[in-house]
Amino acid sequence: MSEHPERLAGVSEVDCTGLQALVTGSTSGIGRAAALALGRLGADVIVHGRDPEAGAAVVEELAGTGADATFVQADFADVDAVRDLAAAVREETEGLDLLVNNAGGLFRDGRLTDAGIEYTFHVNHLSPYLLTADLLDQLSEGARVVTTASGAHKGASLNLERVQGSDPYTGFTAYSHSKLANVLFARELARRLDVAGREVTSNSIHPGAIPGSGFARFLPGPLPGLFQRLEALPGVTSVADGAAEILFVGVSPRTAEVSGRYFFGQQARTPSAAARDGEAARRLWTESARMLDIEEPLAKRDQNPIAADEGTDPSEP
Ligand SMILES: NC(=O)c1ccc[n+]([C@@H]2O[C@H](COP(=O)([O-])OP(=O)(O)OC[C@H]3O[C@@H](n4cnc5c(N)ncnc54)[C@H](OP(=O)(O)O)[C@@H]3O)[C@@H](O)[C@H]2O)c1
Repeated sequence: MSEHPERLAGVSEVDCTGLQALVTGSTSGIGRAAALALGRLGADVIVHGRDPEAGAAVVEELAGTGADATFVQADFADVDAVRDLAAAVREETEGLDLLVNNAGGLFRDGRLTDAGIEYTFHVNHLSPYLLTADLLDQLSEGARVVTTASGAHKGASLNLERVQGSDPYTGFTAYSHSKLANVLFARELARRLDVAGREVTSNSIHPGAIPGSGFARFLPGPLPGLFQRLEALPGVTSVADGAAEILFVGVSPRTAEVSGRYFFGQQARTPSAAARDGEAARRLWTESARMLDIEEPLAKRDQNPIAADEGTDPSEP
């Protein structure tokens, strides 16, 4: 890695000693780089993914920086595994100061999970939703929730029937739809936390198109090789740049009071019209609870709409 993400995010001087963080999907890619940077800044980090060997390697690297680190394995296609992850986090931490919902990807798999939900939607949206719901009481006052979305949310519109149907989305369409859900989720979480009077922020990010992460391994056909070859091009977004976006929203004093926004290039940006649809965000929230057969989290929802960010921020370049 050429540059440290904390330098790119302008947070090298932020002292994270005592900060307790969970970074999902930190066995690889931008989650791994963000977890290591948090460790260098002094945070205690819970590393998550499916691959125990990769998890152990990240924990070892973190220990080398003096960080207190553990790995918890959980497959995000498995509801019980996500609930066990939340239980492990409650046990490991006195209070969670930073929750980074980052695990996910673009999968070839068009199957339904055991819960009867389209695979990509389940892994990329439903599991972070469940994890966050299970950790709401564990979030310290002043905590931040950062959700890794994507510019790929553009072009999608919310269709909750199809993710439960026999002819579900697949490939890029499924990915784009799940990333729209990430932006809507982060925004609705911010609104409900505000209504509940919680001093906890929630934002989503687009890390950039990053050929150097492990993302390409899930792409169909010849695309993995082609995508990875882009890494050689000058000016392409690096893994460190993507991790810097997480750090900028996760620990920078400049974003401490910001909630309900979508960031790219370390600026709040205007997401797509479908991602600014408050009614869709509410529907996604309620229906996600129904799909998981859980009580709706933060259910008091009729006040304090987040101010629409339409037209006030630059769009993505
Ligand atoms: N790279 C890009 O161009 C790009 C662009 C926009 C957004 N993003 C988003 O950035 C996030 C991180 O991706 P990345 O680029 O860093 O790719 P990556 O290197 O493949 O990292 C993905 C991480 O998610 C974990 N993960 C994947 N499927 C999982 C599952 N079913 N259960 C539990 N964990 C799972 C992986 O853990 P294991 O390998 O241990 O299972 C890994 O730690 C993703 O949400 C992705 O959608 C990436």
